[in-house]
Amino acid sequence: MPGFEWLGEQEQEAVAEVMERGVLFRYEFDQQRQGIYKVREFEEAFAAYTGARFGCAVSSGTAAVKVALAALGVGQGDEVITQGFTFVATWEAILDIGATPVFTEVDETLCMDPADLESKISDKTACIVPVHMMGAAAKIDEIMAIADKNGIPVMEDTAQAAGGSFQGRHLGTFGAMGSFSFDAVKTLTCGEGGMVITNDEALHQSASEYQDHGHDHKPVGRGNEGRRFIGFNYRMMELQGAMGLAQLKKLPDMVATQRSHKAALKEAVSRVPGVSFRELPDEAGDSATFLSWFMDSPEAAVKFNGLLSENGAGAVPWGVNTWHAYPHWEHLHAGATVAKGGWPFVRPEETLDFQPDDLPRTAGLLSRCLSWQIMLGWDEEHLKQMTEAVNRAIGGM
Ligand SMILES: Cc1ncc(COP(=O)(O)O)c(C=O)c1O
Repeated sequence: MPGFEWLGEQEQEAVAEVMERGVLFRYEFDQQRQGIYKVREFEEAFAAYTGARFGCAVSSGTAAVKVALAALGVGQGDEVITQGFTFVATWEAILDIGATPVFTEVDETLCMDPADLESKISDKTACIVPVHMMGAAAKIDEIMAIADKNGIPVMEDTAQAAGGSFQGRHLGTFGAMGSFSFDAVKTLTCGEGGMVITNDEALHQSASEYQDHGHDHKPVGRGNEGRRFIGFNYRMMELQGAMGLAQLKKLPDMVATQRSHKAALKEAVSRVPGVSFRELPDEAGDSATFLSWFMDSPEAAVKFNGLLSENGAGAVPWGVNTWHAYPHWEHLHAGATVAKGGWPFVRPEETLDFQPDDLPRTAGLLSRCLSWQIMLGWDEEHLKQMTEAVNRAIGGM
């Protein structure tokens, strides 16, 4: 998964081009930068790669979710539906924009359960945020059909799935907007960074203005630019843009390598008694950052992972993970915040209430789920060792 494994001369050269000119800011300095606009170029190249019309680069994947929601006009009084298995960033951004997150169960795809989505739509729902977890598509066709039927925009949190597609179309291009993360452990990494993509020019314009204090980016010199609304600073810097451009060129090979490593391990895990794999709505479009499977009971998952660990091949046990799983977000359930007045949990007319046992299906699935992150640097020998670890663990069950 992590593009940092393949950092090399291409990234060094791209960063050096920026350093030689000494322009770190993505805007202005037209003379000094001698035609080098790395962030702008990255936006165009990434959008083209995904098939979207526009890309707006930002400082992180968390910022990307918030900037997209801002462009969609989401704010206080609105509900935003997302899923109970995602990184905390998704709902942090929803809370930070002033909206209320409403969580759905996930199904065997480990992504939003469309049936539960339908049951959670209310007259306050302003946006639906499915998350393409661990590199692979949610049931985005079903989710879009439900959203369209109800006239609600979709913002796909594609932070974990650059390079992933559904039926030949890149993830993040189905909804009104899509957000990406290029943080230190993502397939395409800039160290930190994010992107918002869309086909809608007006939404792109709003995102682009919001992430830069509202600057309207008219060609009148930065100090003379106007503004339509208040924004914030979520800008990407030139060094990140340089990294992104170099990494984007490697993305197809990274995905191909991940797919080949994943296929070898899937074969080994398929021999585990009682195993079933995560459902993939379109396996051909899986960016293959993780191999995820379900054991037939939580006890079997704990035991099998113990045996894998003893043999040097421990998996991620989602049943106890505290950063991605709704049942373990104790700070959300407690409404814990640094704000003395309780914001964002305490609002003028309501106090938000999230209970740890609200999503029993998600809790049940995650308690049986194990995943390996697929690394780029694995060689034949390492894959053989992991296969042997699986065989020994099967023997110990
Ligand atoms: C689903 C999801 N959304 C948002 C983010 C936030 O991305 P970043 O770390 O770039 O802020 C992440 C990061 O892992 C993520 O997994």
